[in-house]
Amino acid sequence: MSITLAFDVYGTLLDIYGANEKLKTLVGDKSLAFSHTWRDKQLEYTFRRALMNKYEIFSVCVSEALDYTCMYYKTPLTKEEKQELLNAYRALPAFDDVISSLKQLNDSDYRLYAFSNGSEEMVESLLTTSDIREYFLGIVSVDGIKSYKPDAAVYQYFLSESAADTDKAWLVSSNPFDVIGAISAGMKAAWVNRFENKVFDPWGIEPTLRVKNLGELKDKIDEYYMSQ
Ligand code: 2OP
Repeated sequence: MSITLAFDVYGTLLDIYGANEKLKTLVGDKSLAFSHTWRDKQLEYTFRRALMNKYEIFSVCVSEALDYTCMYYKTPLTKEEKQELLNAYRALPAFDDVISSLKQLNDSDYRLYAFSNGSEEMVESLLTTSDIREYFLGIVSVDGIKSYKPDAAVYQYFLSESAADTDKAWLVSSNPFDVIGAISAGMKAAWVNRFENKVFDPWGIEPTLRVKNLGELKDKIDEYYMSQ
C-alpha cells in the first residue's frame, strides 16, 4: 500500500500568523506577543477540554482564547473587531513551500490527508481559500471523536478513517506535542521546523525525521525506507 501522510494544518500547512496585519491595526505593537499568547491559549484550552471531557469544537477554543488574550493584554476589542480576527483565522495563507511539495507528493502516489483539531467544515474552508484542497484525499478532524491532539485516540481515529497501513502512516507537523503524540500512538512522524526557532521537548521521543520545509519531505521519507 502507498504511504499515507497526515498533514497537521495550523502552523504546518498554513501560517497562523498570517492574520497579523489585521491584528496590528487593532492592537498595534502588541500584535506579535498577542498572536503567540492567543495561539498558546487555544492549544491549552484543547488540552484542558480533552482531559476534562469537556469537549467544545475548535472554533470555541479559538474564540475563548481570543477573549482571554484581550483581557490579558488589556486590549478591549469590540464584538465586530473580534469577529474580524476570527474570520481572518478561517482564511490563513499556505506557506511558500506547500503547494509545490503537495503536488510532488500527490504525483508520487502518496495518500495525502489533512488531519487537524479544526472541524471538518473549518478545515475545508481553510484548504479551499488557500487553494490546496485538491491535493488531499480527505480531511480527518478530531471532532469526529470529540477529543484533541495528542490524545492517542485521535491518531488511532486517523488510521481508521484513512484506512492507512500503520507501518506506512506518517504525521507531518510543526508541533512537537503532535509529533510526540503520533509516535507514541504507533505512527511515524516528520517534524517540520521551518524557522528553527522551536525547541523539541526533551522527552526521549524523537521525530522519525526532521525537515526544514515540505520540499524535503519526499526525499527524506524515501531515504528512510531505503535505509530500513
Ligand atoms: C492542528 O491543526 C493544532 O495545529 C494543530 O490540529
